[in-house]
Amino acid sequence: MKPIALAADHGGFELKEAVRKHLDEIGQAYTDFGTLDGASCDYPDMAAPACDAVVAGDCRCALLFCGTGVGISMSANKIHGIRACCCSDSFSAEYTRRHNDANALCLGGRVVGPGLAIQLVDLFLNTPFEGGRHQRRIDKLTALEARG
Ligand code: RB5
Repeated sequence: MKPIALAADHGGFELKEAVRKHLDEIGQAYTDFGTLDGASCDYPDMAAPACDAVVAGDCRCALLFCGTGVGISMSANKIHGIRACCCSDSFSAEYTRRHNDANALCLGGRVVGPGLAIQLVDLFLNTPFEGGRHQRRIDKLTALEARG
């Protein structure tokens, strides 16, 4: 199984660390693209290498963190091939896999606590894409990238 890409700015650092410990506990490999110390940094800089690793096929998916989850999801969705979902509820975490084949989950360290975050991560990692009519929509989503 490929590793998961992790990345956070300072606003998401503590939550990334909590999720990272959870991944250790369940034996899930990951590559941590930082921040590694929680110092102030800019979420687009943190999102880019983690998302590049997903697009390159080096990582299975990305778990991304900032204060709200919003800035890092906006950054991730600028990268062709990334389908990032910022969410704080279990229905969205499940259905963004089932219907959107999301390959990045974005969480807000100032929005969700570690218990909920771990529940959302587990749902995201364990829910398959349903394909079928949803694949047609993903294809149209991908076609939007060609508009530049
Ligand atoms: C950083 O203070 C904060 O703006 C950032 O983590 C994030 O919430 C942006 O969307």
